[in-house]
Amino acid sequence: MTNLDLYAKAEHLLGIEEATEALYDLYRSELEEYDVKTLLDVGCGRGGFMQRMISDGVKCKGIDLSSLMVAECQAQGLNAECVDVKDVDGKYDAIVSIFDVLNFMDKEALTSFLDAVAQKLSDDGVFIADINTLYGFSDVAEGTMSSDNEKEFLSVDAAFENNQLHTKFTLFEQEEDGRFTKYQDTIVQYFHKVQFFQKLTGLKLVEKQTFSLYDTEDKTLLIFKRR
Ligand SMILES: C[S@@+](CC[C@H](N)C(=O)[O-])C[C@H]1O[C@@H](n2cnc3c(N)ncnc32)[C@H](O)[C@@H]1O
Repeated sequence: MTNLDLYAKAEHLLGIEEATEALYDLYRSELEEYDVKTLLDVGCGRGGFMQRMISDGVKCKGIDLSSLMVAECQAQGLNAECVDVKDVDGKYDAIVSIFDVLNFMDKEALTSFLDAVAQKLSDDGVFIADINTLYGFSDVAEGTMSSDNEKEFLSVDAAFENNQLHTKFTLFEQEEDGRFTKYQDTIVQYFHKVQFFQKLTGLKLVEKQTFSLYDTEDKTLLIFKRR
């Protein structure tokens, strides 16, 4: 199992439903001013945002590097695939990467990711994504939490150092026979300055908004057009 699959297994124990809904509301209202007929959700997770946009009449496709997330989308009848963004066919009026997706990549990976996104955008297309601010990493995300239900126990331990947040997930899951299986892995998230996004070759940063998701000014929304 990859570390992203472990995140997929653990996500429902993190208590992020409300924050996720708040982000969906924000993205949806930002997209209202564009004429969006087709949308690509990169890092689509369980597909909640696609469900919303489909009910608004938008044709949606989702991709995610976790095969577990993609399987959950497909089980709901959504068009989802476990592929890298550079291997997606076609062009889209809007591309989104919601809830930290860009922070999962280091500078090098992010640069090629953003080049690929630019190539999948239609001429007037818009790309919207959010990143964590330094404060969001150092004050909000860092620390320890645990959570459980009858069959699962999760502990999360996050430390921020040298502009990287290392989050160790430990999940105990009860099997049919009553025994517990332990899963453990680490996800690294990288802090990126807004300046980095102002120097891209394929995308032009047209708007940035710092806002508060969990706490004061913990996130920045970035809106791009093609160069
Ligand atoms: C915090 S989750 C957010 C999921 C979803 N956007 C939502 O709002 O519920 C981040 C997701 O990004 C995915 N991911 C990370 N890096 C990715 C990449 N380079 N391409 C596609 N998906 C990626 C992870 O597997 C995970 O599902």
